[in-house]
Amino acid sequence: MKFIVNTVAFFALFHVISGLAGKAPTKTLNDGNQIPMLALGTYGFDDIPRMRQAVNWAIEAGYRHIDTAALYENEEEIGKGISDVIKHGLVKREDLFITTKLWNDKHARHQVVPALQESLSKLGLDYVDLYLIHSPEASNADGSPANIDYLETWKGMEEAKKLGLARSIGVSNFNTEQIDRIIKNSLIVPAVNQIEVHPSNSQEEAVKDCFERNIAVMAYSPLGFFVSRGQNGRPGKDDPKILNIARKYNKTVTQIVLRYLLERDLIVLPKSAKRHRIEENINVFDFHLTPEEMAVMKTFNSNTSIFD
Ligand SMILES: NC(=O)c1ccc[n+]([C@@H]2O[C@H](COP(=O)([O-])OP(=O)(O)OC[C@H]3O[C@@H](n4cnc5c(N)ncnc54)[C@H](OP(=O)(O)O)[C@@H]3O)[C@@H](O)[C@H]2O)c1
Ligand SMILES: *[C@@H]1O[C@H](CO)[C@@H](O)[C@H](O)[C@H]1NC(C)=O
Ligand SMILES: *[C@@H]1O[C@H](CO)[C@@H](O)[C@H](O)[C@H]1NC(C)=O
Repeated sequence: MKFIVNTVAFFALFHVISGLAGKAPTKTLNDGNQIPMLALGTYGFDDIPRMRQAVNWAIEAGYRHIDTAALYENEEEIGKGISDVIKHGLVKREDLFITTKLWNDKHARHQVVPALQESLSKLGLDYVDLYLIHSPEASNADGSPANIDYLETWKGMEEAKKLGLARSIGVSNFNTEQIDRIIKNSLIVPAVNQIEVHPSNSQEEAVKDCFERNIAVMAYSPLGFFVSRGQNGRPGKDDPKILNIARKYNKTVTQIVLRYLLERDLIVLPKSAKRHRIEENINVFDFHLTPEEMAVMKTFNSNTSIFD
């Protein structure tokens, strides 16, 4: 009897963490594709070879979504991690959601598909789930500004989608005006805008504008100043208001910050190179914040961004 109960529990658990959803629920994008609400962020791994290990830990912990970029120079190591978990039978390719980004020096329309093909070759994949224009700013190979309209870049993105090299396409670091220019002048509406959102930079208006246009928002640097980042007087992980909420749910401050963003229907991308934190950061789907607690979280906003 005990054996049967344990077997049932095992399969129930397996059911929950297998498939695209993994441990995180998914959201439907404006093109009909499903995106997992939580991804492993991968920017700033000082030790790139550890990236492969981190991908393995993340998939074992129930992550199904990895956020990378050509800029991060870690696509090869991530590809090795993906190959490991598929080889070990943990997941199939279709259970994973892989996001990468076009860097600023490849904004000419004819450069987009080749840049994506280079990323795919490094990742060892034949498609990505989501391809983003990393920023509206175009540059030359030497980093100097280039005079290329992102509407041209977007035409290249549409070609990438038509070729099936990217299942969904979107933008990052675009403002509402720039998004509206794309919508007015293009065939495909971006599925996603990836922008900086965290308690000190809550971005209420930008998020509302995207949602009104049926564009999903990915929140980067979600932990904001609640991690060691030179808080300069901004509320941080010792603030009694957030400690009280954390205590109530037996969660860490980091988990409360992620939950606050998830309650707002934002896709979160916490980055960690440490196994226990990778596990901690996805352990946020068994509780909810009340409207009062969401109001407390809102008081941390000071419109302060980490990046320009
Ligand atoms: N589109 C863009 O322009 C853009 C810009 C920035 C970032 N991004 C994406 O968004 C991802 C996340 O942003 P981010 O890396 O800037 O910031 P983040 O994920 O908010 O914070 C990462 C920092 O928090 C620490 N950390 C992670 N989990 C923790 C925990 N549970 N407790 C305490 N500390 C913890 C990490 O250290 P350890 O690694 O030592 O744990 C790291 O120092 C990036 O990795 C990247 O994928 C995109
Ligand atoms: C609180 O959370 C920790 C870490 O997840 C867990 O080990 C512990 O059993 C929890 N305590 C209670 C009272 O639920
Ligand atoms: C943040 O910016 C918004 C929009 O510009 C503004 O309404 C709000 O008052 C600002 N909040 C703070 C704390 O500066």
